[in-house]
Amino acid sequence: MLNPFLLTAAFYLVVAIVVVLDAVLTSFNLIPWFVGLPWLRAHFVTLGVLAQAAFGVLPAFVANRRGAEAPATRWDIWLLLNSGLVVLLAGMPSVNSTLIIAGGTLVFIAVTLLILQLRGIGGEQQTQGNGSLKFYLMGLVYLLVGIIIGTGLWVGWSEPLRIAVPKEAHIHANSWGFASLVFAGLLVDLLPALTGKALASRRAVAAIFWAMSLGALGLVLGPWLGGNLVVTVPGLALHIGATVALLILLARRLRGAGLYARAGAWHLSLSYTWILLPVMMAPLIILEVANVPGAEIEATAPQALIYGWMGQFLYAVVPYFAARWLLRDSQARLGGNWFSLVTVNLGAALIWASIFLTGVRGPIHAAAYIFLGLSLAAAAWETGVITLAALRRAEQGAAQPA
Ligand code: HEM
Repeated sequence: MLNPFLLTAAFYLVVAIVVVLDAVLTSFNLIPWFVGLPWLRAHFVTLGVLAQAAFGVLPAFVANRRGAEAPATRWDIWLLLNSGLVVLLAGMPSVNSTLIIAGGTLVFIAVTLLILQLRGIGGEQQTQGNGSLKFYLMGLVYLLVGIIIGTGLWVGWSEPLRIAVPKEAHIHANSWGFASLVFAGLLVDLLPALTGKALASRRAVAAIFWAMSLGALGLVLGPWLGGNLVVTVPGLALHIGATVALLILLARRLRGAGLYARAGAWHLSLSYTWILLPVMMAPLIILEVANVPGAEIEATAPQALIYGWMGQFLYAVVPYFAARWLLRDSQARLGGNWFSLVTVNLGAALIWASIFLTGVRGPIHAAAYIFLGLSLAAAAWETGVITLAALRRAEQGAAQPA
């Protein structure tokens, strides 16, 4: 059976290219801007590729670590997640409250069922695991918080929930909560297969987990409570500390295995530049240092975060997941090539440049999206080739008489 979540992730990789093209044309004023464009651009990557890929591989990783059989596809979860996404795709651009609440609720239920599924996975001779499960569960709990805030963002829930800066709280819950923790868990699970060695000792992995989880809590509560420094500053320090430690351990293992000879390892490592950069800027924004355009950074940096960090990390792991779970290739390697590496990092750098070079913002934005579109096309091509090979094989298998 082909993993439907990974097939859908490959589909949304292609859709994401179309919306990036849209961004290029609107930046050149060739077609009119419309209200749903930034939402679609962000969420084709976050919900379309990131969430699908996570839903597709987490049960298999957890089962593997616990010595259990790989669980059967949960079509109910796939249907809930994807019908929710489709309803949101209709509701967000038209700012239709009923559709937004319906879509958000469907996605919320899908995430809850995935949490229950992961918790229920256990083998006969249940092994202790390598510590990745807690990253996944905590990441998904932050996703639930992010969904509640995101669903309420345009339908007026922020006031009764007393969320002072809801957009920031949503981004922080999903980026520094969900994506950070799930990516860290994936690295814990992937490194032994890629390098033959564990990412780090169990104690080091547990310390990263707690620092990241508590850090994310501070970073969500900060904007929720209107920029409260008592929670934001320790949250920031814990999160930066955990991320830098994770990066050092990752780089050590990748270098030890000689993987920096290929672009995939660089994609994984360099992607973290684009989450650390806004984190480094945060103190300057909070302290209102002169010449640092805080409002512009808050409005524009999320785009670099989505493509430069989440997108780039996915360029390395999605082709790997497709090869391993669609093509059943036990020798699967990280995805990405030198072209996708240069284009995605150049695109993210240009998005940051557009924040400071106000006079030429339109053309720089357009150039950024051209590079990001090219990098997406390279990733979609690589994933597409693997996916098509798997589909052909499945078709040929189905055509054989029993
Ligand atoms: C049911 C799920 C979700 C809903 C209803 C939702 C809703 C929203 C809304 C209403 C915005 C505000 C857009 C604006 O004001 O311009 C937004 C922005 C954003 N969301 Fe979500 N979201 C969801 C899931 C996610 C996920 C899973 C992630 C990341 C993993 C994510 C990351 C972001 C980011 C980074 C932005 C800022 C985009 C920008 O300003 O360019 N969201 N979301």
